[in-house]
Amino acid sequence: MVNNIAIEKAKTSKIKDVDFDNLSFGSVYTDHMLVCDYKNGEWSAPKIVPYQPITLDPSAKIFHYGQSIFEGMKAYKDEDEKVWLFRPLENFKRLNKSAKRLAIPELPEAHFMEGLMALVHLESDWIPKNPGSSLYIRPFVFASGKGFHASPAGEYKFIIACAPSGAYFSGKVKVLIEQTYSRAANGGVGYAKAGGNYAGQFYPTQLAAEKGYQQVIWTDDNTHEFIEEAGAMNVFVRINDTLLTAPTNDRILDGITRKSILDIAKDEGIKTEVRKVSVHELVEAAKNGSLKEMFGAGTAAVVSPISAFGYEGVDYDLPELADSYASRLKKRITDIQYNRAEDKFGWRHEV
Ligand code: PLP
Ligand code: COI
Repeated sequence: MVNNIAIEKAKTSKIKDVDFDNLSFGSVYTDHMLVCDYKNGEWSAPKIVPYQPITLDPSAKIFHYGQSIFEGMKAYKDEDEKVWLFRPLENFKRLNKSAKRLAIPELPEAHFMEGLMALVHLESDWIPKNPGSSLYIRPFVFASGKGFHASPAGEYKFIIACAPSGAYFSGKVKVLIEQTYSRAANGGVGYAKAGGNYAGQFYPTQLAAEKGYQQVIWTDDNTHEFIEEAGAMNVFVRINDTLLTAPTNDRILDGITRKSILDIAKDEGIKTEVRKVSVHELVEAAKNGSLKEMFGAGTAAVVSPISAFGYEGVDYDLPELADSYASRLKKRITDIQYNRAEDKFGWRHEV
């Protein structure tokens, strides 16, 4: 257990104002947050303070040059009120991978892990127990240092904020296969969880939303011929009995849910292939009936079945299967996350 993180307790709690039976995603925040500053070449000791706004100089480099990275994780409560995280070290490693690419100083593991554990422990009353709900945890780092000079800042803030949350998508997920815009390019920052990757998606996603699509499936920036990932999740495709997903590369986020789903699928005896999937192959499979299902996988999205995809003005509906891979895999992964089943992979981390 953690006992060396300074805690300044909130004077009052907001918890009684929260309707835990009707939680949306990421819109109410717990009473405390973890804060840690980088100054004079080192990260200070993390501390927990009441959740509050932060003050920044207008010249802070986050506003001008977008040096900002984040993570997404969840805490789950089981029937016995025990609290669990899912593969938290993977989030820590990915945060530092993103940090390196954005010229942000990497965080020491203890700052992240001990800070995270202390915060989740303190906020454990906020972890919803309703099915499908959890405490969404948002660790993030941004340039708080001043200056209009276009160079990395000298000061940064690492914060962890938490939001009791329900499902990310409110209904069926219809996706548009993007043919004009790109999310990421070779040699770019696509593999990093950088704030700018999301800002760049908003406009094309708005255009897609106007046509009734909830997410864009990004294709490779060079040819737009191969599907890569969606705006907030990695993508899986089932053709006949084979489960396919694109290999990660420097344009795709190396999703923790994606790699867990691949391991679980193999364990379930499902044939998996990590290979490029062309839009042509997808359209042909939809036309000849061999495309059985598609789903997204991510921390926020969990496993989200895709009901249809749009491509060049045509919508291709996917069948609703009684025993889909999506439902089998979602059950397996959430049973591990909520401590309802054996964790043969050693992914659960008790808080
Ligand atoms: N791809 C993108 C662009 C995402 O934002 C996310 C969410 O974090 C994912 C994939 C899935 O990653 P993970 O499973 O690690 O949450
Ligand atoms: C997550 O799944 O944790 C993410 O960061 C996706 C985000 C767009 C909500």
